[in-house]
Amino acid sequence: IPVASFDYVVFGATGDLTTRKLLPALYHRYKDGQIPPTSRIIGASRSELAVEAFRARTRDALKRFVAADDLDEATLAAFLDHLDYVAVDGAGDDGWPDLVAKLDERPDQVRPFYLATSPDLYGSICRNLAKFGLVGEKSRVVLEKPIGKDLKSARAINDAVGEVFPEEQIFRIDHYLGKETVQNLLALRFANTIFDRLWTADVIDHVQITVAETVGVEGRAGYYDTSGALRDMLQNHILQLLCLTAMESPLNLDANSVRDEKLKVLRALKPITAGDVQQVTVRGQYVQGAVDGKPVEGYLNELGHDSRTETFVACKVEVQSWRWAGVPFYLRTGKRLPQKLSEIVVQFRAAPFSIFPEESFGREPNRLVIRLQPQEGMKLEVMTKDPGPGGMRLRPTNLDISFEETFKQRYPDAYERLLMDVVRGNATLFMRRDEVEVAWAWADSLLKAWADRREPPRAYPAGSWGPTAAIALIERDGRTWHEEL
Ligand code: BG6
Repeated sequence: IPVASFDYVVFGATGDLTTRKLLPALYHRYKDGQIPPTSRIIGASRSELAVEAFRARTRDALKRFVAADDLDEATLAAFLDHLDYVAVDGAGDDGWPDLVAKLDERPDQVRPFYLATSPDLYGSICRNLAKFGLVGEKSRVVLEKPIGKDLKSARAINDAVGEVFPEEQIFRIDHYLGKETVQNLLALRFANTIFDRLWTADVIDHVQITVAETVGVEGRAGYYDTSGALRDMLQNHILQLLCLTAMESPLNLDANSVRDEKLKVLRALKPITAGDVQQVTVRGQYVQGAVDGKPVEGYLNELGHDSRTETFVACKVEVQSWRWAGVPFYLRTGKRLPQKLSEIVVQFRAAPFSIFPEESFGREPNRLVIRLQPQEGMKLEVMTKDPGPGGMRLRPTNLDISFEETFKQRYPDAYERLLMDVVRGNATLFMRRDEVEVAWAWADSLLKAWADRREPPRAYPAGSWGPTAAIALIERDGRTWHEEL
């Protein structure tokens, strides 16, 4: 479905995010015919670049980050024709008249301003957008995470952006919300009666959310070291997954109905304090090891100096509500783990009583595994009888839906959906100001508890599932992290 004609202005046009994610996503949307012919994508950054040079860079980027099967020369050339470029100092004065002149050529376009820059610049860029008369009914601003590094800085950014744009025109990206399987979670929970009836503390034993990565900090050590796994992944992506898993049914799919329900979950998170932080959290940092059979350096070596920043975090979280009372949520994420894997595991209570002889009853509880990546899909682990005449032996098997096999189509990247939702003005999959701030308030309590204890992160070899303390964290409760059947 085509969207309205737009001028997408991307600040930070030569940066990593634009190159790896935004331009490839826009290319795919163009290829699928969603982008109207009068639309433009206008790169903006401080580098003095000719339009031709920006197009040449983009051509290289697409060759690297778009699958060869999806790239054909004619579509690529036609897409590049939609690209323009302006050298502009987002936070200073230079170059703005050129941007204004360019946008004035097509005054009726929808105008999203995507700030793929450091969050420190969000406020100044927005002030400039206002000063140069670029904010109107058809403009929107898109903010990448992280929105700040704690509640105080997040509020300052939200205030500065909020002085220029009304909340309905602010789109705070958490790209996990654009992932197909994450949206599928809404379908699973609210378009099927069977799961809804089971979604309660009476039936669910606990929930696990794992977001594991094999990569280290790559070229981003400078940013990452000021952030760490809690700020980089848990405060946003993982808490958003938790919200979609735990929230009540929204009234409808309107942005505010969905966000109201997510907000209630965030408000219900029990703060972690210095008193329980040892029991319910683990911070880790990878040391030398091997991933995919290849030796890799430790974090400190990559960084080049000493640091206590965590590259792994696991914690046990409580959602204080009737539905979830007594149901722990175990969360973990880390860099340099053995595989790239994001999944939500809902583990149901074990059968209360066994009619089967003890030795034949592998008392495995049912689990619903929602796999976000890779191999998107869902599995329900159920007990079945082992085939054959050997008596009543039981074993767990999977009721399995592989989305790849079922739908046989390319899975769009999260950014494709989100970039087009911005043009449509649909904010359902974006974070509202209060969500971001309440999530920060919770993360701040944990950061403070860690700071009070002054403990260094625990070492884990690259290629392992984090410090052994993370295994102990869940095993103390008589549970284990989910492993593939
Ligand atoms: C980003 C984090 O938000 O998400 C990165 O800043 C992380 O550190 C990335 O690698 C993971 O995203 P995905 O889509 O690859 O799971």
